Amino acid sequence: MASLGVNLDHIATVRQARRTVEPDPVTLAVLAELGGADGITVHLREDRRHIQDRDVELLRRTVRSRLNLEMAATAEMVAIAIDLVPDMVTLVPEKREEVTTEGGLDVITAGDGLCRHIQQLQGAGIPVSLFVDADAEQLKASARSGARWVELHTGGYADANWSQQPLELARLVEGCQRAQELGLRVNAGHGLTYQNVEPVAAIDGMEELNIGHTIMARALAVGLSEAVRQMKQLVSSPRREPLFGEGALLQNPDSVDVEGQP
Ligand code: PXP
Repeated sequence: MASLGVNLDHIATVRQARRTVEPDPVTLAVLAELGGADGITVHLREDRRHIQDRDVELLRRTVRSRLNLEMAATAEMVAIAIDLVPDMVTLVPEKREEVTTEGGLDVITAGDGLCRHIQQLQGAGIPVSLFVDADAEQLKASARSGARWVELHTGGYADANWSQQPLELARLVEGCQRAQELGLRVNAGHGLTYQNVEPVAAIDGMEELNIGHTIMARALAVGLSEAVRQMKQLVSSPRREPLFGEGALLQNPDSVDVEGQP
């Protein structure tokens, strides 16, 4: 049975849209775990467009399941990961212009630089997974790289139309089998939704699916009416007492004496 890694990047995307403090992926990670997440995944991008360094530091200390850090294979990111020691690092290709990760890593042409980063991370006790397309040559190169895991890119399957989807699914099934024959353990992710996830989850040998966007979209749908109800309550029946200043409900912490009495 595949386990579920919940990707929290889009919570940080909403926060960064206002550069404020909410929603906080660190506090919402607890809810994801309460809901049954087997792991928490975040992508610390080089441009820090959503997840911030502070998020990964706090998640490392608070996540009770497993923390999977997605990142580019660069010296800066490897240093951060070695400091942090997440439960897994997933190496992904990264381009500044892209909206989200496009395509898998090209392990065939990546060369010694990638192998060195993998060695450094694994030498620090961090299992490394490579985000790759379910392509025979990429999988062989992944096995040669020294990594023990791959994450199969499911974007092609997710984007395929109804008639092409069986073919894309067959590629994933074959890729999963081939990877295992090469001694690799297999995760998958990208673009999976409530509608298309089941055939991928049912692939023999599939260990974990990393899913983000669709879960955040569903959370808005199932949580929005309650959020509006709570705001409506405040707007329609506000407390009349002043919240700040003289006789306030909310005391200025500076006005609390040493015994904690206002
Ligand atoms: N796996 C990888 C390597 C990714 O880059 C992403 C997107 O950040 C995901 C899984 C999750 O994709 P989605 O948000 O489409 O579920």
